[in-house]
Amino acid sequence: MRQVVTTGTGGIEVLQVQETADPVPAEDEIVIRVRAAGLNFADILARQGLYPDSPKKPCVMGYEVSGVVDSVGSGVNSAFVGRAVVALTRFSGQAELVRVRANQSFDKPETLTFEQAAGIPVNYLTAYALLVVMGSLHEAESVLIHNAGGGVGLAALDIAKKIGAVTYGTASRSKHKFLQERGLDHAIDYRSQDWLPVLMKLTDGRGVELVLDPLGGKHWKKSYAALRHTGRLGMFGVSTASATGFKGKLNLLKVVLQTPRFHPLPLLNQNRGVFGLNLGHLWHEPEKVAVWMRDILRGVQEEWIRPYVDRTFSFDEVGEAHLYLEQRKNIGKVVLVP
Ligand SMILES: NC(=O)c1ccc[n+]([C@@H]2O[C@H](COP(=O)([O-])OP(=O)(O)OC[C@H]3O[C@@H](n4cnc5c(N)ncnc54)[C@H](OP(=O)(O)O)[C@@H]3O)[C@@H](O)[C@H]2O)c1
Repeated sequence: MRQVVTTGTGGIEVLQVQETADPVPAEDEIVIRVRAAGLNFADILARQGLYPDSPKKPCVMGYEVSGVVDSVGSGVNSAFVGRAVVALTRFSGQAELVRVRANQSFDKPETLTFEQAAGIPVNYLTAYALLVVMGSLHEAESVLIHNAGGGVGLAALDIAKKIGAVTYGTASRSKHKFLQERGLDHAIDYRSQDWLPVLMKLTDGRGVELVLDPLGGKHWKKSYAALRHTGRLGMFGVSTASATGFKGKLNLLKVVLQTPRFHPLPLLNQNRGVFGLNLGHLWHEPEKVAVWMRDILRGVQEEWIRPYVDRTFSFDEVGEAHLYLEQRKNIGKVVLVP
């Protein structure tokens, strides 16, 4: 089979499509013939050498796929063969075939294309954990979604709308029209102006109940300042570190040095909460994640979960796909197809 290999740390020249032996499922596993594989910001950071959870290189990235079950292990019901599924993969998803534990796969909603289905797991599970599970967003509360035009951002918008929250989002100006059409109440251009005074003006100086921040470093301090009483800050990424080579390492160091510390007493007196999320550190909790995924797939049926695929690239175009994300061109999801 063919797979996309990140052969080392560097620019897109380190990405190669290589042949390897077909995988064989272990007892509790299935092998999926991949029809589409999600590309995530983590894949870019891994290539740049800025992602601590990356497998050792050379490696095959890919956290999520959709496809058709090709074979099953001895402990899995053979009726699974031929089923269309969507699955979480602990790497190796960007390949023609991938093996995963059977309990990490779910029936693909019939109403979705394979490309749309591959865009669900990482973006929507992350958004669900941030908004529903840890952020506990309630109707009529307000939420600020940073990078609202990205994959996680659009997923968060779907869920926040369903909850009935007032939505604020930061994004490049070119993405505002699309976001407003998707239902974002207030789009803020954070690249040509300071977003905090704009948000404070829009909220009559009160701030918001929840901020989702994947930027990292000093941005977490600023997002904390945007919280209203009973507000929560969810931290889940370090996008601002992204760069290839020495600049990336320098950016990451800056992020670490500028990361704020939160003391319990001000949290207590200001009625605020802070939390972090790393979906990639929940592999030991498959039951929990399965419950969230079932809710999300129900949302697909009810049409309030609307995975949006911006562009599809073939495996051979993986370098272009990386650049598309790195250069912030995407709105929503980018997927790879064999
Ligand atoms: N912790 C977790 O479990 C988890 C799970 C999934 C994702 N994440 C993190 O969440 C963040 C967003 O992921 P995603 O998949 O939604 O990404 P995405 O679809 O690539 O969207 C990222 C968006 O972020 C903005 N951005 C801000 N700083 C950037 C930079 N330095 N370089 C490029 N883009 C930048 C861009 O939007 P504008 O044009 O509006 O600036 C870009 O389109 C990433 O940091 C990712 O690592 C974390």
